[in-house]
Amino acid sequence: MLAMNKNRILGITAIAIAVTVIVSSCNNKRSTGWEYAPNMYEHIAYDPDQKNDNFKDGKTAQLPPAGTTPVGFVRFDYPNTKEGYEQAGVEVKSTLPQTQANYTEGKMLFEHFCSPCHGKTGKGDGLVVAHGFPPPPSYSTGQSSRGGNMKDLTDGKIYHTITYGVNAMGSYASQLDPKERWQVIMYVHHLQTL
Ligand code: HEC
Repeated sequence: MLAMNKNRILGITAIAIAVTVIVSSCNNKRSTGWEYAPNMYEHIAYDPDQKNDNFKDGKTAQLPPAGTTPVGFVRFDYPNTKEGYEQAGVEVKSTLPQTQANYTEGKMLFEHFCSPCHGKTGKGDGLVVAHGFPPPPSYSTGQSSRGGNMKDLTDGKIYHTITYGVNAMGSYASQLDPKERWQVIMYVHHLQTL
């Protein structure tokens, strides 16, 4: 009898504690609750979208000053136009060392990002083309929609295409950094000769 009462008292106490915890954690919806490391939430650095009196316009997120290049950023100052494409085609040249390692990396990146449409050998017969996507012209025997043979596409024209895309092909600028683009281009040049 006494044992049963003890269990009931324990049970009721446990339920009461649970209810208190639940109710008290719900009364303030904006509270993050118990903060283990508050400096993660209330840090001293400014958030990009925070007001900031240190700058004239009162914003934290500032544009880089005109004419500067952020560390590690590679400029490509050719606009997404036919003229930009032609100009890049003449002026922009790969400085990537033509090594086996870069070729192998370029092949791997091409097979991941480009072959679904262009096909593994660049003939324009990738998997999505087999499912009705408009086929890209073959790198070796096709004609570019912007004039000339695909096999004659230069470094700069291919770089411009990867950076901005063209018609049905989207931009790969966010998937491939400049070095990776040059590695892919090294492999595309190989496919142009097939
Ligand atoms: C979603 C399908 C698709 C993917 C993925 C794709 N392309 Fe294309 N690509 C096309 C199509 C379609 C064209 C033809 C566009 C046109 O000229 O109208 C094309 C055209 C090209 C051209 C010719 C541009 C010119 O000047 O005529 C190059 C070079 C090229 N792609 C390279 C690449 C590379 C490199 C990748 C991978 C990073 C890639 N493409 C990924 C569909 C794709």
